[in-house]
Parts: sequence; structure tokens; C-alpha cells
Amino acid sequence: MRVVQVEHLTPEMRLGLSIRLANGLRLAAMGQPGDPELVQRLRDHGVRVVYVQGGETGDPADLEPRVALETWSEAVTGLARVAGELHRAEVFRPGALDAGHRGARSLLLAQRRARGVLAALTRLRALNSHVLDHSLRVMIISLMVGQALGWGRQQLRSLGLGGLLHDVGHSLVPAELHDNPGAWSDDEFKAMQAHTKLGADLLAELGLGRPVVRAGLQHHERWNGTGYLEGLAGPGIHPCARVVTVADAFDALIHDRPYRPAFAPREALELTMAERGRGYDPAVVDALLRCVRLYPVGSVVLLNVGALAVVSGENDGEPTRPVVRLLGSASGAEETVDLRHKAGWYVLNVVRRVPVSR
Ligand SMILES: [Fe+2]
Ligand SMILES: [Fe+2]
Repeated sequence: MRVVQVEHLTPEMRLGLSIRLANGLRLAAMGQPGDPELVQRLRDHGVRVVYVQGGETGDPADLEPRVALETWSEAVTGLARVAGELHRAEVFRPGALDAGHRGARSLLLAQRRARGVLAALTRLRALNSHVLDHSLRVMIISLMVGQALGWGRQQLRSLGLGGLLHDVGHSLVPAELHDNPGAWSDDEFKAMQAHTKLGADLLAELGLGRPVVRAGLQHHERWNGTGYLEGLAGPGIHPCARVVTVADAFDALIHDRPYRPAFAPREALELTMAERGRGYDPAVVDALLRCVRLYPVGSVVLLNVGALAVVSGENDGEPTRPVVRLLGSASGAEETVDLRHKAGWYVLNVVRRVPVSR
């Protein structure tokens, strides 16, 4: 299979994959010839690129080798770049981030000849570079959280691929919706929400396993049942989808969106913690907390009790409650305080951050 701009379709070319509308109806079937009538129909629905069959077999997973290799090497390069950016953002513990990056990298390296994965990735790449970068970050963050949850190799493999491909359904949503984010009518919002179902159908068609398909379908569901597309709740949501949900939302918070600027990591974490047991699986939020660092050792913080303090230790899994050394304590009786054991005391804000050496 290869990717072709809709304007370049000819009647001799045959569609490599079926094309569905946002409401799930099929706009064109796999194998359909690229005649002028089809070109017009695709244009009318804002479809810009399609797959056409490239080999004799017509196998949907038979991606043209050059396109597959380009996609793959762009993803591998992109992964290193976004991992570097995440390091510079100083949100995650370097050890956890390195482990997540390593997991994502070896998983991606193993996908070099995985036609289904590469076909889905090619679609993400055809959308725009922001979508591919977001997908790569969600892959890393999901794996980091999965490792913190103690998941096994096979589960992590599905989780990584689910994180990477969760948004592939956006490639099946009318292009003009992407050009106009945040200003959607109710119908347009519904069409946008359908990226979950469209993506899941595509992932199933490409032969990706059930957990990956579920990550695509359910990553906008919420633990308390307030999400979409089906309003599933709690354990009714696939475990992979529960992790990808948190990774996806957290990554969205710490990056600019067309309709709002990025939140500072600490604010993003507070917003995520506020959804613990509400929108998000509490175990997943707890695992994310074990991966982040809020107050690196050496930071000067202001406590709610009015004292300035220097962070002297971090507590695993409780990034908001570090060990601090009080500055200028009048009593002199209590120099070092572990905020885990000091009820009612908490960090109000950071007065001075330490530059982290990487
Ligand atoms: Fe999504
Ligand atoms: Fe996403």
C-alpha cells in the first residue's frame, strides 16, 4: 500500500483501506477504483489522503516498503527528540523517563516490519507533526506508568502500541475539523468524538490486538462514566485504555493547545490528582505520581505555615510531600520535617527551583 493525495487518484488505482465517515458509515470500500466520482465524494468530505493498493495481493497490510521505512525512521527519530524535550521539562524522574523511553524505543525498533502498525503510523504522520509527536509522548508516558504499575512484558507491548496509535482515528475525521479546533458545533463535536470508534475499527482492520483496539476506542472514557464514546466506567474500561487516558490527558495539559497555553507541570499534576477516582483510575494516577518530580532536592519552597524551607528529600509516590529543612526556624527545635507525617502542612509554592543537570 502507499499513500496518495486524493487529487492524484486515477481510475487504475484501487483503495487500500475502506474509508469511513465520522458517524461510522462507509464512504468508500477497500478495493474501490479511484474514479472521478470517488475523488469528488472524498473531496466533499474533506478527505485529503488515501491508501491505494500497491502490490498484486491487495492485502491491506501490504504497505509500500519505501513509505513504511520512511514512517518508521521518522518515528524513531521523533521518539528521541520528544524524550529529550520531556527531560528538559523536568516533570518526570529521570530514571522513570529513561526506562519509559527505552521501552518505547525497543518496541518501535521491533516494529520495523509490522505492516499494520506502520500503516496506522503512516496515517498519523500524514495528519501533521504535532499528532505524531503527541502520539510518541503518550507512548513513552504510558510505558512509564505501566512499568510503575509492574506490568509484564506482553501487557507493556500492547500498552505502548495503544499509546502510540490511540489517536489514529483522527485521520478519518473530516480535515476541516482539525483546522478549526475548539470552535465546533454540537454536530462537529460529535464527529470529532467519533475518532475513537473510527480508530478502533481501523486498528482492528489492520490486525492489531484487542488491547490496542480498546486503547483506541476507550481513551476518552472516564473512570466515573462521564466520558465518551460509550460512557463506560471503572473496570468496564480496558486497563490499557485507563493508562493511555491519563497519559494522553497529562501530555495535553503540559503542551500548548490552539485554544489555551500549556499548564505548568505542577498545575498539570494538581489537575490530574484532582481527577483521581473521578475521571481517572486511582491506581493509574498513583503510578503516574511515582514517575514525577515536583520539588527536586535543593528547591526553596514556601510552606502554608509561613516558613521558607529547602527540599532535602523526595518521597516516592508522594511528590507533593517532600522532606524539607526549615530556614531560619525560630524554635530551632525542628529543623527537618517530613511533610508526609506533618498533618496540615503543605508546600504553597516554589520560591526557587534548582536547575536540573540534564
Ligand atoms: Fe483522542
Ligand atoms: Fe491523544
